[in-house]
Amino acid sequence: MVRAAGLALHGPAHGPNPRVGCVIVGPDGTMLGEGWHRGAGTPHAEPAALADAAARGHDVSGATAYVTLEPCAHTGRTGPCTDALSRAGVGAVVYAVEDPNPQAAGGAQVLRSRGIEARHVPVAQARDVNRRWLGAVALGRPWVIAKWAQTLDGRTAAADGTSFWITGDEARAHAHGVRAEVDAILVGTGTVAADDPELSARPAHVEAPHQPLRAVMGRRDTSGARVWRDGNAVAIDSHDPHEALRVLAARDVRTVVVEGGGTVTTAFLRAGLVDELHAYIAPALLGSGTAAVGDLGIATMGGALRGRDVTATALGVDTLVTAFLQRGPQ
Ligand SMILES: NC(=O)c1ccc[n+]([C@@H]2O[C@H](COP(=O)([O-])OP(=O)(O)OC[C@H]3O[C@@H](n4cnc5c(N)ncnc54)[C@H](OP(=O)(O)O)[C@@H]3O)[C@@H](O)[C@H]2O)c1
Repeated sequence: MVRAAGLALHGPAHGPNPRVGCVIVGPDGTMLGEGWHRGAGTPHAEPAALADAAARGHDVSGATAYVTLEPCAHTGRTGPCTDALSRAGVGAVVYAVEDPNPQAAGGAQVLRSRGIEARHVPVAQARDVNRRWLGAVALGRPWVIAKWAQTLDGRTAAADGTSFWITGDEARAHAHGVRAEVDAILVGTGTVAADDPELSARPAHVEAPHQPLRAVMGRRDTSGARVWRDGNAVAIDSHDPHEALRVLAARDVRTVVVEGGGTVTTAFLRAGLVDELHAYIAPALLGSGTAAVGDLGIATMGGALRGRDVTATALGVDTLVTAFLQRGPQ
C-alpha cells in the first residue's frame, strides 16, 4: 500500500480527481502490475495496473489489488473500476481510504456482492496523498491555502506599498511549485492595482507547468492588468469569501491558493475558510508597512488560531512555515 501511495504521487495534484495508485500482487507475493491515475479523463489506477500486468504477460486471476482509494462503482468519463477488477478475475481488493464522493462510493460493496474480498485497511500515506482533495469533498467547497511572504516582524509590504522582493529566489521558486499544484490562485483588486502580478506558475525545471485559473476579488475596475491577458481568469465582484468559493467551485476548482493581500487573506481567515497556511518568512525587519493578517476579532490568547501538523523548511535564507488550521466559524 505504501508503494501504491508512492505511485499515486505521480498523478497531478490539481484537477477534479484524486490521486490514486494501485499495485497488483500475485498469491505468491509477486508484483504483477502497477499503475496510477494520470488525471481527469484518463484511466483510473486499477485499469492502469491491470493493463500493466497484461503488458507484462501476467494472469491476475486470484491476485490481490492494493489500491489507495476504494474502487469506484460508477461510470464517469471512464467505466466502473469494480467491473474492470471483477472482469480480470482479481480475488481480493485492499483499499486504504473509503471514497467520500457519494457518486463514486459503494465500490467495496459491489465487489463483495460479486464474491471478491474487499478490505478497508487505513494507511496514513494513502490518506495524506489526497489530504486537500479529501478535505474539499468533506467541506463541500474548494480547499483554501493562504500564502504570503513576510518579514520577521510580520510585514507583507513596506510603508510605500513595495513588496518586491521580501524573500529570495528559493522561496519564490517553491511558491511557483505550489501554484502548479492548485486549480486556482486568488488575490484582491488591491494586489492587482499595486503589483500588476502575472499570477502564473513558473516552477524551475518544468517545461509546461499546469497554469491555475486566476481569480481577482473586489469591485474596482482592474481591466488592462496582466491577470486578464487570456481567458484563464475570473473576476469575483464581491467581498464575500463564501461567494468567491462558490464561483470557484462552479469552475471545478478543488484547491485554491489565496495569495493576498492582507485584506483578502484576513477576510478568508475571519470567515473560517482557510484550511492550510504557507508563510514564507524572510530574515528582514521593516518596522512599519502592511501587516500579513489584520484584525481577526480575537481578543484573548486562548482564542488564537493555531496550526497543526506544522512544518518548517529552510529555503535559502528564508523559512517556509506550513500548518493546517482547524475549521473555524462559518
Ligand atoms: N508579501 C506578500 O505575500 C503579498 C501578497 C499580496 C499582496 N501584497 C501587498 O499587499 C498590498 C495590497 O494589499 P491589500 O490588502 O490592499 O490588497 P488585497 O487584499 O489584494 O485587495 C484589497 C481590495 O480587495 C477588495 N476586497 C475584496 N474582498 C474584500 C473584503 N472582504 N473586504 C474588503 N475589501 C475586499 C477591495 O477592493 P474593491 O474596492 O475593488 O472592492 C479591497 O480594497 C500591496 O502592497 C501588495 O504589494 C503582498
